[in-house]
Amino acid sequence: MARAPLIAIEGLDRTGKTTQTSKLLSHLTSSKVKNRLIKFPDRTTPIGQLINKYLTDKQFELSDQSAHLLFSANRWELYTEIINSLTKESTAVVLDRYVYSGVAYSAAKGLDFQWCLNPDVGMPKPDVTIFLKLKDSKATSKREGYGDERYEVVEFQDKVRFQFEKFENESNWHDIYVDGKGIEEVEREIWSVIEPYINGVEEDLHKF
Ligand code: TYD
Repeated sequence: MARAPLIAIEGLDRTGKTTQTSKLLSHLTSSKVKNRLIKFPDRTTPIGQLINKYLTDKQFELSDQSAHLLFSANRWELYTEIINSLTKESTAVVLDRYVYSGVAYSAAKGLDFQWCLNPDVGMPKPDVTIFLKLKDSKATSKREGYGDERYEVVEFQDKVRFQFEKFENESNWHDIYVDGKGIEEVEREIWSVIEPYINGVEEDLHKF
C-alpha cells in the first residue's frame, strides 16, 4: 500500500523558503492531499526553545558541537510524529529545513562533514528535496530583516552553500534558482517537481 510522501524544502537563509513552503501546502490541500508542515528548528519543543535562544541571543554561547547536536536532537523529538503521519495517517509531511541544513550550517563552521551527519543517521530520508538557490548570494542581504539572526552574514552563507552543494548528487534532489524570478514562477517550478509524488510512494522509507 502506498504511503504519503516526505518532502523537504531546503535553501539558504531568506531565499523565500517559508513563502514557498506555504504555497506548496495550499497546492496539496487544493489537490485533496492530507498534509502537514514541520519546520526545523521547531522552536516550540524543549530543545527548540534552547535553539531559539541560541539563534536570537548573541550573548548565549554554545560550542559549535553542542549547537549541532541540539539541532539534531530537535529532529529526533519529531521522529515518531513524522513516521506516524506518513504511514498511519497517510499525511504528506513537508519539512521546512531538515538534515541537509543541519549538516551544511555546521560543516560551514568547520566541523567535519561526516561527524555532522552522524547524529541524524536513522532519520527518514525525504522522497524529494527542493533546494532553493541563489546565483548571487549578495542578493540575500538586501532582504528586509536580514542580519538579525546569528548566521545571516554573506560570507558565512557562501560557505553554507558550498556544503549544501555536496548533497546535489543525492537521488531526488532538485535545485531551483530563485534569482530574478517572481514568487509564482518559483511556485510553479516547485509544484512540477512535487506533483508526481502527491498520490503516495510505494517504496519503504529510506533512512539516512
Ligand atoms: P530558520 O528558523 O529556518 O530560519 P529562516 O526562516 O530565517 O531561514 O532557521 C534558523 C537558522 O538555523 C538558519 O540560519 C539555519 C540554521 N539551522 C542550523 O544551523 N542547523 C539546523 O539543523 C537547522 C534546521 C537550521
